[in-house]
Amino acid sequence: MLRFRAGQPADVELVLQLWVESEAESTHTDNPESLSALLTHNPGALIVAEIGDRIVGSVIAAWDGWRGSVYRLAVSPSHRRQGLADQLLLRAEERLAELGAVRLQAIVVESDPPAVGFWRNSGWEQQIKRLRFVKG
Ligand SMILES: CC(C)(COP(=O)(O)OP(=O)(O)OC[C@H]1O[C@@H](n2cnc3c(N)ncnc32)[C@H](O)[C@@H]1OP(=O)(O)O)[C@@H](O)C(=O)NCCC(=O)NCCS
Repeated sequence: MLRFRAGQPADVELVLQLWVESEAESTHTDNPESLSALLTHNPGALIVAEIGDRIVGSVIAAWDGWRGSVYRLAVSPSHRRQGLADQLLLRAEERLAELGAVRLQAIVVESDPPAVGFWRNSGWEQQIKRLRFVKG
């Protein structure tokens, strides 16, 4: 049975595995320490989709008091095109709205057709004329 729940410390390794198998573009914060720090700093921010004892999807819905940010939306290749990412995003949006977030943002890899296909169908607006700067 499919269920959605907040990710726990015991899920960290399985979620990192999901990101690898999903071929989500990796970053140097894809490690147990960083994901554990998220769970400590922002409990409830990691939402997982679980079937039986298998984690088949994830999303991070983070609220910083100013913006709501959605990261790491990923669905196992074996469970795609069944609406799982839609449901994960809906839960992320609900959580962020409950916390008071009015404006939400997500970064999407432009060269990733499934990611772009999903977000174009998400009802979110693609922002143009913005540059993203990062450090670290
Ligand atoms: C992007 C991703 C999360 C989509 O997960 P999913 O569960 O298969 O998506 P859904 O079933 O909820 O799809 C909803 C809609 O998005 C669009 N969509 C999803 N995958 C698509 C694809 N490969 N190509 C084009 N459109 C797609 C479709 O409109 C789809 O509706 P439909 O199936 O009725 O046509 C998944 O492909 C994935 O994990 N990719 C790797 C990680 C990644 O790129 N994440 C996004 C980073 S922000």
